[in-house]
Parts: sequence; structure tokens; C-alpha cells
Amino acid sequence: MPQKLVIGNWKLNGSLAANEALLKACGALAGVDRAVCVPFPYLAQAASLLGGMALGAQTVSEFQSGAYTGEVSAEMLAEMGCRYVIVGHSERRALFGEDDATVGRKAAAALRSGLVPIVCVGESLAEREAGRVMEVVGRQLGAVLEIIGAQGLSRSVIAYEPVWAIGSGRAASAEEAGEAHAAIRRWLAENGALAAEMRILYGGSVKADNAAALFAMPDVDGGLIGGAALSAQDFMAICRAAVANGAC
Ligand code: 13P
Repeated sequence: MPQKLVIGNWKLNGSLAANEALLKACGALAGVDRAVCVPFPYLAQAASLLGGMALGAQTVSEFQSGAYTGEVSAEMLAEMGCRYVIVGHSERRALFGEDDATVGRKAAAALRSGLVPIVCVGESLAEREAGRVMEVVGRQLGAVLEIIGAQGLSRSVIAYEPVWAIGSGRAASAEEAGEAHAAIRRWLAENGALAAEMRILYGGSVKADNAAALFAMPDVDGGLIGGAALSAQDFMAICRAAVANGAC
């Protein structure tokens, strides 16, 4: 079984000075796979200060090259040393108009360049309260499956990020996360993916004090960390909680 995977998503935060201080304060740590997804302009800087972590980006163009002003291709990310790229984060879906099919095409672009897409899925509070969690997540995953197939999905990381838990300070309980992750793994298996070998990360208000309980759930294979990834102390505490909870 692979070890757990903890990824920091810095979102729209950072500066050369702050990044250097943050990355230098994240020392080596065995027993967990770690990565940081940084804003595009800082990829080169972060690549030089990783200290054993992997590098990732927060989005990618669905296009390979050409007249697409402002876009960044998967090939460029690979050339800069990225291993991962987040696709379909709820902020991109809600604020930048990315629909399910766009997310699938971005995942396809990532795979074509040898990157591992981190496919984000998750329901809103209204959808959860209406009992529609797997209807929504199944639709989001289904659109990606249609484009990259079960083989492509098997090479991806899934991040379950309930929209109501992101940046709210109200994480899903370990039971809520565990239940959703188990349902996602069942969905993946039913749709032909190598579900048992895939990593399903939880994201949404993961902090040093709730990480251990979340990571103890059998289907929670790690975390996608927003706010707490901007503090080396908090990020490292979360990574240590992943170490303590062992393999996926
Ligand atoms: P927070 O950890 O700040 O809630 O953000 C989660 C997230 O969106 C990670 O991608």
C-alpha cells in the first residue's frame, strides 16, 4: 500500500520571501508523500526549495499550445518540474466557470504530459442537506471518466472537497468524510477504475487538530490542505498526523 499523500494548495498566496521562509521551514519527513501546489510564477523558486516534497500547480490549460493568451500548458508545468496539477477545484468551478467537461479535458491534458491530475469533487451544503452527495460527485467524476476513461482515472488522485468545508473552519467530521470516501471508492470500482490502488484525499478545513481523526478513516488516503499549508508548523503537524496513520 502506498503511504498517505498530503498536498498543500497555496491558492492565491505567497511572495518570494514568504515562500522561501515557508519551504525552508518544512523539513524532511519520512513516511508520507508531500507536495505543494504553488502559483505559476513561483514554480521555479519552489522547485529549488522542495526538500523532498513534490511540486504541483493549481490549474492547467486544456490546450497544448497556440493563441490562448494567459494559459499555461501541461507540458510547461512538466518542464518546470511539476508532478501534480489540481483540476476542477471548486473555486475554479464557481468563480471561473469551469464545467464538468472542462475539468475532464484538463485532466486529459495533464495525463498527456505525464502529470498526475488531482481531480477535485464535492457537493454544496444545499446538495448535502438534500441527500445528493453521490449524485453530484458521481456526475462530476462521470464527466471526467467520459474523457480520460477508467485507465486515466486510475492514474489520477481524487480530492473530495465538500464546498461547505472549504475555508469555512467547519471540516467534515471523520465519519462524514469516511462515508463519502468509501462511496467514491465504490463508484470508482463500479466504473472500472483501479479503485483499491487510488488515493482519495480529503480537503476542507483540515487543521493540525483534526487531521489525525480524518486520516484514521480507512478510505481517507491523505489531504489537500489550503489555509493550514501556509504555516510550516501547521502543515508539518498535518503531515506528521499522516505518518502516524500509516499506509493508505
Ligand atoms: P482550506 O484548507 O483552507 O479549507 O482549503 C481547502 C482547499 O480548498 C484545498 O484545495
